[in-house]
Amino acid sequence: MLVTVIGTGHIGVTHAVCMAELGHDVLAMDVDEAMIAKVARGEVPFFEPGLEPILRKNLRDGRIRFTTSYREAADFGNVHFLCVGTPQTVGGAADLSYICAALRGLAAHLKSRCLIVGRSTVPVGTARMLLARARDLAPAGERVDLAWNPEFLREGFAVHDSLQPDRLVFGVTCDSATRTLEQVYAKLLQRDVPGLFIDLETAELIKMSANAFLATRISFINAMAEVCDAVGADVTQLVRALSHDERIGGRYLSPGLGFGGSCLPKDIRAFQAKATSLGLGSVVDLLRSVDAINMARRATVMDLATRALGGSLAGQRVAVLGVAFKPDSDDVRDSPALDICGRLELAGATVSVHDPAAMPNAAQVHPHLRYAQSVSEAAEGAHLVMHLTEWPDYQAIDPVALGKVVASRVLIDARCALDMPVWQAASWTVHVLGRQRAARTALGRQLADPA
Ligand code: UDX
Repeated sequence: MLVTVIGTGHIGVTHAVCMAELGHDVLAMDVDEAMIAKVARGEVPFFEPGLEPILRKNLRDGRIRFTTSYREAADFGNVHFLCVGTPQTVGGAADLSYICAALRGLAAHLKSRCLIVGRSTVPVGTARMLLARARDLAPAGERVDLAWNPEFLREGFAVHDSLQPDRLVFGVTCDSATRTLEQVYAKLLQRDVPGLFIDLETAELIKMSANAFLATRISFINAMAEVCDAVGADVTQLVRALSHDERIGGRYLSPGLGFGGSCLPKDIRAFQAKATSLGLGSVVDLLRSVDAINMARRATVMDLATRALGGSLAGQRVAVLGVAFKPDSDDVRDSPALDICGRLELAGATVSVHDPAAMPNAAQVHPHLRYAQSVSEAAEGAHLVMHLTEWPDYQAIDPVALGKVVASRVLIDARCALDMPVWQAASWTVHVLGRQRAARTALGRQLADPA
């Protein structure tokens, strides 16, 4: 099929490349000329393991091309995917200006029957509004249809999540849209990926509620971590026990510094704004609590750091391990770890940062921090080491060797991911969110290794 993809950010490039990989002829379009020039050369402009080789292969095979022209995009495809960002406005609601601009740019050139398919995360009601606008603007009028097919991609796993999705969701208004989407996704649907064909509103809401649910799980376990610290319990053991319950499972229950990134925080705020406009007070309260618990983790970590250093951070040297919003990503958008770096600096600490991938992006936001090329360079002379993003590399740190370069062996593991007894055995004072009592006693060792 002839498929266009409007928007070549993380979601758009991934979708365009995966559509080509599924056998379609793809034209991807963006108004950003530099971005288009880069991807057209076979370079992925962000960190996404596995994507670049598939882009290059499909460029070589002539299955994918790039353009900055809406006219060319409109003339090329009979299915047009909208993969444009919906950032957060100052008030928290979703900013629909980019998606509206993309729709206007495309619709003005649509002369024949076609299907526009939205992939962006939008408040309920957006798709129906865009459908009416498209029909108003397009020369093809009523022959333009619109469907909603939300993406559920995680950064770092975007290729896997595109080619092996848990499910496909399609909001449609007519049978012909269903048939077109069945053709577009035939290879996945034939592999028994569940495909749900539903109304536009439910499709939009599924994406919002999926992200809200994931955020709620994380905030729930972080609330439990607070309770654990208040009563002397151990959150990692709590999670282990909860995970064995098949009704609960173990995913999105890693306690720590909380969630960040370009999606979960903004999406729960956009959802809150929508719920407020609908007068749904209890939904607003739920989402506000999820957000508040999440943000409170940052204050808790700062308190812990201040107490660990005897009441003041001023003049102290702090080594921060990890600034990406999550491991296997170079993204620092709404990164809890980078937020902590800014707070430490504001409190008068000298902050030395290490991250395997995110330092260039972090340096654009916080140019004054020190950026180290290795963990030991970051930790040189530090009074406190803070583990803020759980890159697998950090689990391989030798605490004995690191202990030789720091000024004091004090560690905060804000991601509950390091092997506490091993660090304690190397004479480190260890603070772990949700495991404060275990960290203070030898219980840590027994709990981690019951045998
Ligand atoms: C998320 C959704 O998972 C995806 O479906 C959606 O399309 C976009 O938003 P992403 O932002 O890439 O994807 O990150 P994800 O892996 O979901 O993690 C989000 C944040 O939650 C990260 O900051 C991560 O560190 C944090 N997190 C995740 C936890 O704190 N605990 C967990 O158990 C899981």
